[in-house]
Amino acid sequence: MTEHDFILKPYTIAKQTGKVSWESPSNIALVKYWGKKKDQIPENPSISFTLNNCKTITTLSYTPKENVDDFSFEVYLDGIKKDDFKPKIEVFFQRVEKYLPFLKDYHFKIETQNSFPHSSGIASSASGMSALALCLMSIEKSIQPQMTVEFFNQKASFLARLGSGSACRSIEGDLIVWGKTESIVGSTDLYGVKYPYLVHDNFKQYQDTILLVDKGEKQVSSTVGHNLMHDHPFAKNRFQQAHTNLESLKSILKSGDLDSFIELIESEALTLHAMMMTSIPYFILMKPNTLEIINKIWKFRKATGLHMGFTLDAGANVHVLYPKKESEKILEFIQNELVAYCKNEEYICDEIGFGAEKIND
Ligand code: PMV
Repeated sequence: MTEHDFILKPYTIAKQTGKVSWESPSNIALVKYWGKKKDQIPENPSISFTLNNCKTITTLSYTPKENVDDFSFEVYLDGIKKDDFKPKIEVFFQRVEKYLPFLKDYHFKIETQNSFPHSSGIASSASGMSALALCLMSIEKSIQPQMTVEFFNQKASFLARLGSGSACRSIEGDLIVWGKTESIVGSTDLYGVKYPYLVHDNFKQYQDTILLVDKGEKQVSSTVGHNLMHDHPFAKNRFQQAHTNLESLKSILKSGDLDSFIELIESEALTLHAMMMTSIPYFILMKPNTLEIINKIWKFRKATGLHMGFTLDAGANVHVLYPKKESEKILEFIQNELVAYCKNEEYICDEIGFGAEKIND
């Protein structure tokens, strides 16, 4: 597939009013995407677990309009008009217009809500952009009803990527690879693909308890963050390391080796933060409580032998990852020992999920 395959061919169907809804999940990267080229092309491959409970629900209503010179849309979050969301969506529309030539034919009402608190510090861009991309694909499907599910998902992921890179990994589940790498057949920079190899039962229903250490606005936006990798002294090695880690992960996922899994994901998380600490300008996104939690996790793991590991996003919150079969003892530990380090003791219990779903009226 190339970008050209995603350009909608000319059609003659009359414009109609309509409404479509999708719910789309967030995802958590195991091997991180950090650094991009033009048009949201990643500098390195990444892989993520799709989540199950943290998701965005979006309804897109569309009405034909006369003036086809500009985009026309309004955005609501939890029923409240959000004009501050508009610039990001305008940029998204500009980027995808070439592939969705009907965008200027309609006025859109975008109504969105998240299953997690908006101020939780959890990135809603992956779930939000993927939900919007899926709604737009449903309009395209009404124009081209013969479209295959495979094409639908590929193009939804392709469009979501143009909104927010990691959003392309939210369309399907349970493990999604994005970015071309030798070790994963079918992998591409254009969209996310399902991880195509055997996965050990240890990773089925893998748990992710998200500890909300800091619920404020992101200190560093993704755009600024990715740009830090331009001229970064360690960039070349980091990008190479991501390929190597994906290759290693393949045998870990097959054998179910949880110790090696934890070592790999924790190293990836700390490398992501190390990149931010060693760029110019530099940032420390972890908070004292992030480190308290990490140290507690390490102590607990040593004492019990249970497979509790962590990963981090570009922020202070901690994703605690562990196998379902060990969840009773680990969750008890989280509640007794770790939740105290969260803002207002808030945390979210999630687990690996299987991707977005269309909501029927
Ligand atoms: O999708 P963006 O541009 O917000 O970048 C996300 C980057 C990380 O969340 C830090 C890592 C990843 O692979 O999801």
